Amino acid sequence: MRFATVGTSTITDSFIEAAKMSQQLTLTGVYSRSIDKAKEMANRHGATHVFTDLDEMAESDTFDIVYIASPNNLHFEQSVQFLRQGKHVICEKPFFSTLREFHEAYRVADEHNVYLFEAIRNIQTPIFKRLKENLHKVGQIRNATIQVQQYSSRYDKLLKGEVTNVFSPQFSGGALMDMGVYPLYLAVGLFGKPMESHYYPTMLETGVDGSGTLVLKYHDYVCQVICSKITHSSNPSEINGEKGVFTFNNASSLKTLNYTDLKSRQIENYHIDQYENDKVYEIQTFTDIINQSDRSRYMELRRLSEVVLGILEESRRQNQIKFPADLKRF
Ligand SMILES: NC(=O)c1ccc[n+]([C@@H]2O[C@H](COP(=O)([O-])OP(=O)(O)OC[C@H]3O[C@@H](n4cnc5c(N)ncnc54)[C@H](OP(=O)(O)O)[C@@H]3O)[C@@H](O)[C@H]2O)c1
Repeated sequence: MRFATVGTSTITDSFIEAAKMSQQLTLTGVYSRSIDKAKEMANRHGATHVFTDLDEMAESDTFDIVYIASPNNLHFEQSVQFLRQGKHVICEKPFFSTLREFHEAYRVADEHNVYLFEAIRNIQTPIFKRLKENLHKVGQIRNATIQVQQYSSRYDKLLKGEVTNVFSPQFSGGALMDMGVYPLYLAVGLFGKPMESHYYPTMLETGVDGSGTLVLKYHDYVCQVICSKITHSSNPSEINGEKGVFTFNNASSLKTLNYTDLKSRQIENYHIDQYENDKVYEIQTFTDIINQSDRSRYMELRRLSEVVLGILEESRRQNQIKFPADLKRF
């Protein structure tokens, strides 16, 4: 299938590289607000079409799928624009700013008989699947701590007075939206929808969270999701059960997984050779769903995105973190 891109930052380069490795997608078009940036990216990756006008791009018949990696607040309008023109959409995490946007975007996708995916990579990796298959080994789960704390160079900019998109409510930014979404996806992917969720953020002057702890309450255990863009941690994430514990590294990009049996203290290493660029796996999943018209897998991912977005929105509501998208009505 042919694809085109929106956004010219490093994440788009990385997605294009993964697309090449997957051998499922061929880049034909690149959009940027700047013609020079569009041409530069197109030349670098061998795309034949460049666009600086989104209307013109959406109407073009030179691609079947669009990959959107723009600031979060633009995801909804841009996705809907392409869906209306019969294009499948792969949109970067976090998908949308509100559940209202989510439902409207899927309504449009269904109406036009096209697919809409949230580009979340960690739940598509072989190592996550291995974790899910073996989770029963821990016995009764009692605790989980899943975290991503990555100090951002954009925080240095903020400290000097420059507000970049990721720290701005105007762009639907903040730690939970940007970082927390990864461990939250793992939690919901493994444990399902929690009975309750409570978010305790450290707020920044811009009106978004710089870090925070999200407590997810399940029937007989609690999972805490820790995210930060203003501190760092090298601690692994853990799922603690009465029989053992699973430990894994950085929750945004799972690469190592160990199981420790509580009684024998024996450690099992669940190593799998994976692509370093783990976007290959999401691309494989999305293209398989489209090629095989796999509605069941599609609805499963859609439901997962809906639960995650519901928790993100509820966390913001609890802490009066407001985005312009909250005022939209459809
Ligand atoms: N899955 C992952 O691993 C991963 C990693 C990083 C980011 N992301 C996601 O990818 C998306 C982009 O993140 P990012 O950090 O690359 O964002 P960003 O640098 O703020 O913006 C991405 C692109 O959007 C365009 N853009 C920037 N500001 C804009 C504005 N005010 N109006 C219109 N277009 C604008 C720019 O492209 P042009 O100048 O060429 O138009 C820019 O290259 C976010 O949703 C983020 O959460 C995902």
